[in-house]
Amino acid sequence: MKDYLIAPSILSADFARLGEDVTRVLEAGADVVHFDVMDNHYVPNLTIGPMVCKALRDYGIQAPIDVHLMVKPVDSLVPEFAKAGASIITFHPEASEHIDRTLGLIRDHGCQAGLVFNPSTPLSHLDYVMDKVDVILLMSVNPGFGGQSFIASTLDKLRQARRRIDESGRPIRLEIDGGVKVDNIRDIAEAGADMFVAGSAIFSQPDYKAVIEQMRGELAK
Ligand code: DX5
Ligand code: ZN
Repeated sequence: MKDYLIAPSILSADFARLGEDVTRVLEAGADVVHFDVMDNHYVPNLTIGPMVCKALRDYGIQAPIDVHLMVKPVDSLVPEFAKAGASIITFHPEASEHIDRTLGLIRDHGCQAGLVFNPSTPLSHLDYVMDKVDVILLMSVNPGFGGQSFIASTLDKLRQARRRIDESGRPIRLEIDGGVKVDNIRDIAEAGADMFVAGSAIFSQPDYKAVIEQMRGELAK
């Protein structure tokens, strides 16, 4: 089977017991911790920053932490998150004045770098930086909140992104974020995604393991 990664978004976790809840979801079979950073400026919501990332590392979380920056400006947070234990840092091209520079900054700090595309953001931002991205993240909802419905036009965009990755010949991850559920994950994988963020679909259920296994079952079909 293809190498698929399941990345629960901790936006839907229990913030009052974050260490325990993240441990539980990793023990239930998750691969990556998706860490949503919102600034009430680039997106209309406010969440968590580098201190919380460091707190998870200090608590003993060893899985890769995938930091999704929904902030503007971006660059000043990159060293902070690298120091706090981020493994991947992704940002939205609209939020950086110098996309190439920000990608380089992330990599210089020892993290994998990625660009995030809102539903209406064109993939052309990739044109001159394909050699500097490790991850392409397509938003299948407008960023800011968990629990929204998957926007169907993202499937075609995934196919286009998959084509670009295959043409590049580089091992770039294609991540999808927003409205991913057991009943649509297979179509999403068929369109080309290989890394799946899911927040409400996992954390709203009492048995995380059961949901993750159902997702893997769909992916194995
Ligand atoms: C939205 C965030 C997502 C969100 C996904 O802006 O980037 O990661 O938590 O939540 P669900 O899976 O509930 O759509
Ligand atoms: Zn996210």
